[in-house]
Amino acid sequence: MIIRSRIVGCGAYLPERVVTNAEMARMVDTTDEWIVERTGIRQRHIAAEGENTSDLAFAAAERALAAAGVKGSDVDLLVLGTATPDNTFPATAVKVQARLGMTGGAAFDLQAVCSGFVYGMAVADNFIRAGQVRTAVVIGAETFSRLLDWTDRNTCVLFGDGAGAVVLRADSGEGTNRDVGILSTHLHSDGRHHDLLHTKGGPSSTRGIGAIHMQGKEVFRHAVVNLARVANEALEANGLTVTDIDWLVPHQANLRILDGTAHKLNIPSERIVVTVQRHANTSAASVPLALAEAVGDGRIRPGHLVMLEAMGGGFTWGACLARM
Ligand code: ACO
Repeated sequence: MIIRSRIVGCGAYLPERVVTNAEMARMVDTTDEWIVERTGIRQRHIAAEGENTSDLAFAAAERALAAAGVKGSDVDLLVLGTATPDNTFPATAVKVQARLGMTGGAAFDLQAVCSGFVYGMAVADNFIRAGQVRTAVVIGAETFSRLLDWTDRNTCVLFGDGAGAVVLRADSGEGTNRDVGILSTHLHSDGRHHDLLHTKGGPSSTRGIGAIHMQGKEVFRHAVVNLARVANEALEANGLTVTDIDWLVPHQANLRILDGTAHKLNIPSERIVVTVQRHANTSAASVPLALAEAVGDGRIRPGHLVMLEAMGGGFTWGACLARM
């Protein structure tokens, strides 16, 4: 008997405050035209003072559980992808665990920056396939606004805050076959590039958190190549082709990266979920936010084949191919 993980609920949360490009132009030397032309971003949501990653993560997870009709006390595993934890320790995941009423099982943070949610899906899927977990919550949640140097126009215009979550359930009953739930996950990292996108600091090196530093052009180049490659890897592993994909739900870093990846994959833009213009880059939250939006508005429906993929600092990158 094979066990599959099925996505049985999605949820999302965005902080109330919206900061437009016009507002950014009052903080740094930039324009709406420059930001839209280079990135596609028009606005971003920014967490309120005192609103932390755990608050965003909890709100998204609570909505995902409600959509799935699952109680927090039924969850065996909670994986929270984040690079912006509330505290250096304990894991932000355990705060979310407590608020959800999940008293058993395990909760931990996973750090793969923008790939954190896709990495989390792979971890949870493997626990479920191994028979160790029946119900998992995977969250991507970030308050990247706290990592930004708000005087650096090269980076501060690119990011936003938010959270998204899914509930996964083991499906080993009648009708389980190769074409149900998560078909496969594929993870990669290449630490030789760790300094192309990093924070200038951390608890061990500077005892601070450090602001984001990025070599944009290099990141761009690697992102397009790696994202197209890992999507093809996932398709090949399942004997499928691009035409089989109903929806590509990529990491929302930048519209030009999305277009470049789509071009390399030869997938039409009508089959790509795009939220970057409204959310900006929310790091680990971007994929589950986009997924929850497209499920919520009925674009992604049961039976659809969905490709989730992301790339982030490290570099880390990965894909998750799922039949909804
Ligand atoms: N407003 C106005 N001008 C700006 C801004 C801004 N916000 N930011 C940079 N510039 C200027 C630069 O200073 C530079 O000026 P100069 O020529 O006088 O030195 C000029 O614009 C061109 O800068 P470039 O860095 O060459 O611009 P580029 O076309 O590469 O676009 C960008 C920059 C948007 C960051 C691009 O490199 C990119 O999209 N990279 C991908 C990075 C990314 O998305 N990272 C997100 C995290 S990684 C991930 O999630 C996968």
